[in-house]
Parts: sequence; structure tokens; C-alpha cells
Amino acid sequence: MKKESIGIGLMGLGVVGGQVAKVLTEKASALAEQAGCPLVLRKIKVRRIDPERPRAHQLPAELFTTDDDEFFNTPGIDIVVEAIGGENPAREYLKRAITSGKHVVTSNKEVIAKHGAELRALAREHHVGLRYEASAGGGIPLIAPFKHDLVANEISGIYAIINGTTNYILTRMAREGIDFPAALKSAQELGYAEPNPENDIEGIDANYKLAILASLAFQHEVRPEDIYCEGISRIGSRDFRYARELGFAIKLLAIAKLVDNAIEARVHPVLIPEDSLLAKVDGVYNAILVEGDLIGKVLFYGQGAGPSATSSAVIADIVASAQDILLGVGNRFKWKAESGKKIKPMAEIETQYYLRVNCADRPGVLAQISKILGDLKISIASAIQKEADMTAQTAELVLMTHPSPEKAMQQALSKIAQLEVVKEISNFIRVENI
Ligand code: NDP
Ligand code: HSE
Repeated sequence: MKKESIGIGLMGLGVVGGQVAKVLTEKASALAEQAGCPLVLRKIKVRRIDPERPRAHQLPAELFTTDDDEFFNTPGIDIVVEAIGGENPAREYLKRAITSGKHVVTSNKEVIAKHGAELRALAREHHVGLRYEASAGGGIPLIAPFKHDLVANEISGIYAIINGTTNYILTRMAREGIDFPAALKSAQELGYAEPNPENDIEGIDANYKLAILASLAFQHEVRPEDIYCEGISRIGSRDFRYARELGFAIKLLAIAKLVDNAIEARVHPVLIPEDSLLAKVDGVYNAILVEGDLIGKVLFYGQGAGPSATSSAVIADIVASAQDILLGVGNRFKWKAESGKKIKPMAEIETQYYLRVNCADRPGVLAQISKILGDLKISIASAIQKEADMTAQTAELVLMTHPSPEKAMQQALSKIAQLEVVKEISNFIRVENI
């Protein structure tokens, strides 16, 4: 199709949207060459127009609107780029763009994780592209590899550090011993954190990203509610110390495995061996280890958050959409809605556990705890008594188990917590020997 230019409508001018507008302006001629014609920003939808607010890069005032109809009725918009985030109205905006025949690009993991199946089907029906490279892994190419480069593989596992904010927080806590609020504040100032940082800290952002990746990898709709999810707020400075003494690092991992046609999907903190590749991924960096039958193991590594890296992925999607438009290609992505695979309940997973228990410092305490574990067929790999508090006559016990079923471990935890000699179970972290 011959076109003088490709028109872009941008929704949201925050961290991501602002940087996308900047790159489209600053790299206009290089991007025109890549795309096949100039990419022109035709309208920007913002929540409110505030002349006092510093907006990106001297964009002409007439580009801005707060009105949905004015945005969608602007002539010459071929691609709608959504960078507002959240479930609604983003979902409605994407549907409106698709049904009016526009290709769409989004950085919004929540909307794709929750409504990806619906939006993919709608995009196919209306012969337009739906691209969301920035929704998982920020600037790291991940969606395109799953859609194209890895399609000959049967994917058996994904092990991912996929949230930059929590990895940044855990790294600073582990390395510098700074406290959680200070590390979070710094991540927010750097533009890594979600508009609601609870989404990062409680593992929800990683959950959304895993839902997107697992759905592509296993060709089965994995919804956020199918994924067990636990955040990093319980991790204390002692856990880093004890883990290090045992030869482990602590990371928030998103894990998806395919075992006997059942999908296991979970997000939670884990102890991983200090010499593993993922243990060395620090700061805002993400790393995604993928296992496939042909490729073996492949590791994707890079900046998983931040305006610059994220804009790289969004702009790549815009250029790919523009190329498709010029070639007259509508939607070229195939995805089966129903694969016959099952989602494995969390109770059925099996892993090793690290347990930190604050208990009375007197004879027979370890025996009581061991009996509970033994009765549930959980084998102890090591037990170490850590700091003792002479005044309170308590001590801290750190236990590592051999691989055991989650269901048995949860039963053991509730029984141990009820022991008269146990003050509290201070922490409980799963261990992955990757
Ligand atoms: P921001 O909060 O910085 O930006 C969102 C912008 O959208 C804000 O400027 C907000 O306006 C605007 N907005 C909200 N609702 C509307 C609406 N109805 N109409 C028009 N504008 C609206 O978030 P980010 O840029 O960080 O994130 C955007 C998306 O990109 C999210 O889905 C996020 O998960 C994703 N993402 C973010 C990354 C990052 O590193 N920050 C990395 C990868 C993905 P106002 O300022 O008035 O509130
Ligand atoms: N808040 C997200 C993160 C942004 O920290 O990874 C990237 O999706």
C-alpha cells in the first residue's frame, strides 16, 4: 500500500508515553527509513491539559486532547499506541481502536494478561495487528521471540526475574543493607515502579508478565488468577544474611513449567544458588531463562523497566505495525484458544523450603519441629541455630528441607506455628536449584 506517512495516536504521556513521543520526534528520519515512510504523531490523548505541567519536548498544543471522540475521530491515525496503563479504560480504548480498523501497540501488561485472549481474537477478526512487546521485560525482546523465533520448540520452562523494581530493591537491600522503604523510593524516582507500586512489591506485575509469557509459550490461556502470587514484603535483612551463609541469593522469580501436559505457574521469592546465572542479575535488570526441546536453554537479559528501554520495545512495535500496513498485512499471529492443557494447583507443586523460626531456646524444641516435619514425610536437609536472645530466652532456627510437596509443607507450617515453644514463623521461602 502506498502511503505518504503513517499516523500515530498516542494515549498517555507519562513515563513511557512521554519517552515514546520524544524518540518518535528525535529519531524521525531513521525511523522513517526503517518503517518505509514517515511516522507522524497526529494526536495525543491525555487525562488533563494543564498549561503549567511540564510536558514532553515542546509538542504543539494542538496535538493534545482530553476527549475520547476527538482522539478516535482524528483523521489519518493508522496506529493507536496505548501507554496509560491499568485495566479500564485501556481495554475499552484498545477495543475501540481495533474495531475501527487501527493497528494497536500497548505497553500495558495488566490489560493483556487479563484480556489478551479477547483482544487477540478481536484483532484477528478486524485484520489488524495487536503488539505488546513492552508489556513483559521492558526493553528485552521477548514477545517477538515467543511469537516467531522459538515456534519450532516445545517450551518446557520459564524462570524469570521479570520485575525490575523488586530486583532493584532486593539488590540494594542485599548489597548495601538499606531498608525497604528507601530502596522503593529510589526505584520510584528512577521511573521503574508502577503507578501503584504495590503491583511491583506484591508480585502482581510479575504475575501479569508471567501470564503473558506462559500463554504464548504454552499456547494456552494462562490467566493471572491461575498463577500463585507472593511478593517480597516479608523478606528481612536476616534472610539475606542467612541465605548468603548457605550459598544462596534471594530473588523474586516468575516460574512456569509444563510437566505432563499440566502448567505450573507461580511468582514468589526464592533462594537460588549464588553461582547460578539468575543470581547474578542485579538492579533493574531482568533475565528470562527459557527451556525448549530444540534450543535447550536460552537466556534473555536486559533492562526490564525505565522509560528509555521501554520506549525501544514500543517503537519497535510501531515500526513493525507500519511495515505491515505498507505491505497490506493485517494480522499474522496464530494462537489456539484451547490447548487441552491443565493448570496445576499450587498444593501439588514440589520444591525445597527455607524456614526461619523464632522459638524458645531450650532442649527438645528442634525435636518437636522435626517430628511434625517427619510425620508429614518432609525430610530436613540442614538445621542451624542462629542468633539467640538471652533476655527473651529465644533463638532463631533456620531449616532447609529436601524437595517436599507444598501441601504437606503448608500443613507442617500451621502445626509448627501452634507449638507452645514457637514464638513465630519469621519467614518461609521456597528454594529452586536452577
Ligand atoms: P505513568 O503513570 O507514568 O503514565 C501513564 C499516563 O497515562 C499518565 O500520564 C496519566 O495521566 C495518563 N492517563 C491515565 N489515564 C488516562 C486516560 N484515561 N486518558 C489519557 N491519559 C491517561 O505510567 P507509565 O508510563 O510508567 O506506564 C504506562 C504503562 O506502561 C503501564 O501499563 C505500565 O505497566 C507499562 N510499562 C511501564 C514501564 C516503566 O518502566 N514505567 C515499563 C514497561 C511497561 P496523569 O499523569 O494525568 O495521571
Ligand atoms: N514496574 C515494572 C518493573 C515496569 O519494575 O518491572 C516494567 O514493566
